[in-house]
Amino acid sequence: MTLLMGPMEGVTDGIWRTVHRSLFGGVDAWMTPFVTPSQNAVWTWRDQRFLLSHDRACFQDIPQVMTNDPKLFLWAAHSFQEMGFSEINLNCGCPSGTVTAKGRGAGMLIRHDQLRFFLDQIMTASPLPVSVKTRLGFQDAEEWHELAKIFAAYPLSRLMVHGRSRQAFYRGQCRPDLLAETLSLFSFPVLYNGGLFSPEDERFLREHLRGISGFVLARGVLTNPALGRVLRGGEPLRREEISVFHEKLLTRYMDMLPPSALLGRMREIIKYMALAFQNHQKILRKIFKAKTLTEYRTLAEDLWSLPLEERPCYHETGTDHPWP
Ligand SMILES: Cc1cc2nc3c(=O)[nH]c(=O)nc-3n(C[C@H](O)[C@H](O)[C@H](O)COP(=O)(O)O)c2cc1C
Repeated sequence: MTLLMGPMEGVTDGIWRTVHRSLFGGVDAWMTPFVTPSQNAVWTWRDQRFLLSHDRACFQDIPQVMTNDPKLFLWAAHSFQEMGFSEINLNCGCPSGTVTAKGRGAGMLIRHDQLRFFLDQIMTASPLPVSVKTRLGFQDAEEWHELAKIFAAYPLSRLMVHGRSRQAFYRGQCRPDLLAETLSLFSFPVLYNGGLFSPEDERFLREHLRGISGFVLARGVLTNPALGRVLRGGEPLRREEISVFHEKLLTRYMDMLPPSALLGRMREIIKYMALAFQNHQKILRKIFKAKTLTEYRTLAEDLWSLPLEERPCYHETGTDHPWP
C-alpha cells in the first residue's frame, strides 16, 4: 500500500519536507505544493529554492504544477526533468475562486472537452510520467462517474483522488463510495485522499475501497507527523518528537525567512500541531497574538508541556466526521 504526503501550500515547502523526512519518514514520497509557471516560462526564487527543492533529497519528491496551458505544462515537465525529478503531477483540485475562475485547479473539471483537449496535448509529449491530483467533481461529487471515464482513458502514472467536490472545499463528508464504484476502470494505480487522520480512518477506507493502491495524507500528518509511521505499524507519536520537529523547523526558517514572514509561517504550522495536545485552545489563541519571536517561543514551550491527546489526530470543531 503506497502512502504519500500530499501537497499543502503554505506548509509543506522544501524545508518542511526535508525536516519531516529526516525525523519521521513513514511515507513513500512527499508531494510539493503547486507551482505555477508564468507566461514567460521562468521559475521564481520562491518556486525553485523554497517550494520545489531545498536539499538533494527533495528531487525524490513529486513536483506539482498548476496550469491549464499545455505549452507551459510541457515546459515545466522538461524543467523538472532537468532538475532531476522523475514524475510531474497536475493539480486539478485547488478550490480557490481566483484559481478556478481562470479554469485552473478544480476549474479544469468544469469543461470536460477542454480537460480532454489538455490531456491529449500533454500525455504523449511529456518527458516525465504524468500523475493527476483531482477532486470528484466541481459542483457535485456525482460528476465523478463522467470524470473517472476521462482520466481512465489516459496512460497516467497514477491518480490521486480527493473524495470531495470543489464546492465542498475541505469540509464535510467525503465520498470514497463513489471512487470505489469506478476503481475497476483504471489500469494505473489510484490513491485515495481526504479525511484520513487515524488508523481507524485507514481501516474504514481499506474496507470500503477494495483495490485501492494507496492513500495520500495531508492535514492528518500536520497534526500527527508520525501518522505514516503509525499506519505502518510503528511507534505512536511522542510529545518530545513534536517539540523537536517544531524547533528544527523554526531554526531552518530563521535562516531562510525575514522576521516579518517567520511568525506567520510558524503559526500556519503550529495551528495544526496544537490539535495533538489536550486543552491547547488558550495557548494557541495567545500564540496567534504573539508579536515577538521570544514571546512565540515561550508559548510554544507551554504548548509542549501539555499532555498529548490520547488519539492525537487532526479534527475540526463543528464539522461532520468525513464519513457516516
Ligand atoms: C492549507 C492547504 C493547502 C493545500 N495546498 C494544496 C496544494 O498545493 N496542492 C494540492 O493538490 N492540494 C493542496 N491541498 C489539499 C490537500 O493536499 C488535501 O487534498 C486535502 O487537505 C484533503 O486531505 P486531508 O483531509 O487528508 O487533509 C491543500 C489543503 C490545505 C488545507
